[in-house]
Amino acid sequence: MTTIKLTSSISPKDNLILICNAKSDFSKYGLSKTELDFIYKQIRKEEHTIHINQYERRILIYIEEDKKNVNYTLEAFRKAGNKACGTFNADKAEQVTIVDLDGITAQVLAFAEGMMLGNYQFIRYKKDAKKIAHSLKTILVHSKQVSQKQIQHLQIVADATQKARDLVNEPVNHLNAVQLAKEFEKMGKEAGFKVEVFNKAKIAALKMGGLIAVNLGSIDPPTFTVMEYKPKNAVNKKPYMLVGKGVVYDTGGVSIKPNSGMDTMKCDMAGSAVVGCTMYAIAKAGLPVHVVGLVPATDNRPGMNAYVPGDIITMHNGMTVEMLNADAEGRMILADALSYGKKYNPELTIDLATLTGAAAAAIGKYGTVAMGTADKKTFDALKDSGERVNERLVEFPMWEEYGDLLKTEIADMKNIGGPYAGAITAGKFLEKFTSYPWIHLDIAGPAFIDSAWDYKTKGGTGIGVRLLFDFLCQIKK
Ligand code: BES
Ligand code: ZN
Ligand code: ZN
Repeated sequence: MTTIKLTSSISPKDNLILICNAKSDFSKYGLSKTELDFIYKQIRKEEHTIHINQYERRILIYIEEDKKNVNYTLEAFRKAGNKACGTFNADKAEQVTIVDLDGITAQVLAFAEGMMLGNYQFIRYKKDAKKIAHSLKTILVHSKQVSQKQIQHLQIVADATQKARDLVNEPVNHLNAVQLAKEFEKMGKEAGFKVEVFNKAKIAALKMGGLIAVNLGSIDPPTFTVMEYKPKNAVNKKPYMLVGKGVVYDTGGVSIKPNSGMDTMKCDMAGSAVVGCTMYAIAKAGLPVHVVGLVPATDNRPGMNAYVPGDIITMHNGMTVEMLNADAEGRMILADALSYGKKYNPELTIDLATLTGAAAAAIGKYGTVAMGTADKKTFDALKDSGERVNERLVEFPMWEEYGDLLKTEIADMKNIGGPYAGAITAGKFLEKFTSYPWIHLDIAGPAFIDSAWDYKTKGGTGIGVRLLFDFLCQIKK
């Protein structure tokens, strides 16, 4: 992981990144007259990125540009940070100093964030891991305006995002439901939040019929993890609740997926990774919010006793579900968690799940499909966080008629809708198990990508951690 620190001095040997506006004074950074002339010439040509290669070190200059709005500007700086990260790693540089010439703190932080997120690697299974590991280890920030707290938050949120990526990238033969719960326990110990893990017997005793049913085809037992972070200075009386889909592998069960749809399905616990890693981040940062995190976890396999289409399952809340597609397993386990969560009387519940191919088909990797019953103000606040951190949300409708698609004559509901509006019918299914303000985030599109995309590295993206951290930072009395 990349370390970020404030620094009060700039060594003449350091690689430098100068973040500034077009009127800046560059005379103090060891640049020769020829180099300065070159810089001013580039600025006159309205160049916004200027490279000076002094061989023993590099100086990169980024000049603020007028974008459509501030969020576009910040995203451009994150992307530039990621590119610079590649340049310095190619140089085998270990440390760079970012200099904030003109007090444009948000841009400086965005640039550093792009560098840190782009520097991620998942190479623990490579024998030459040491050799191929990125050289860049430390980012120093020289700024009068950036605060210690901003640096600390950036470090925490970058680390938490990378942890989420690690969990997603870890394959099921190294991370089953029991091991996933252990990872949450470790994170709770390290960051300071409570973690309790229910085993299969407890899950059965609680009558979580959905989770038990999905687990029937598996050899490994399911787990249900309850995390709680309750600081003394919490500003909220009722907790915020986060619920994450923890399908550690989705074969589709007996409704088995073709290989082309299955090969990335270690990602199907991405929602749970976001929940655990957000708990980690808020606890590390000591945010004054009381938050509960719930993770139902299992793999979904077509084992000998696997649940089969036609089965009728009694869920945690007593409702019966006619299961007609074993591949619609996420909603079965989330429903139990949402129902179990009622006992916390939450102020707001946000669930995150790689729930439907339909969500990915609708908007791709570019955003998250959102829907729910929370009021407009709450939705707007979450959407604003999404715009700020560029983990954008698109709200889908939850019209009553979609609920009709889940009707069946022989049970209270079936677990699939029709051929259309698949992301929404999945949401409508979950809605039946909630009794509090709720937002459902279907992250099937952005959670896992098959090639690097700017600072989002190939595989797990950790999408959702930065969104929720920003959102929870805004909670005031
Ligand atoms: N885990 C999948 C959804 C998914 C697809 C996640 C692509 C990430 C990328 C989910 O469990 C699933 O299989 N959903 C089915 C539901 C259908 C059977 C109603 C789907 O989307 O096809
Ligand atoms: Zn599935
Ligand atoms: Zn799934």
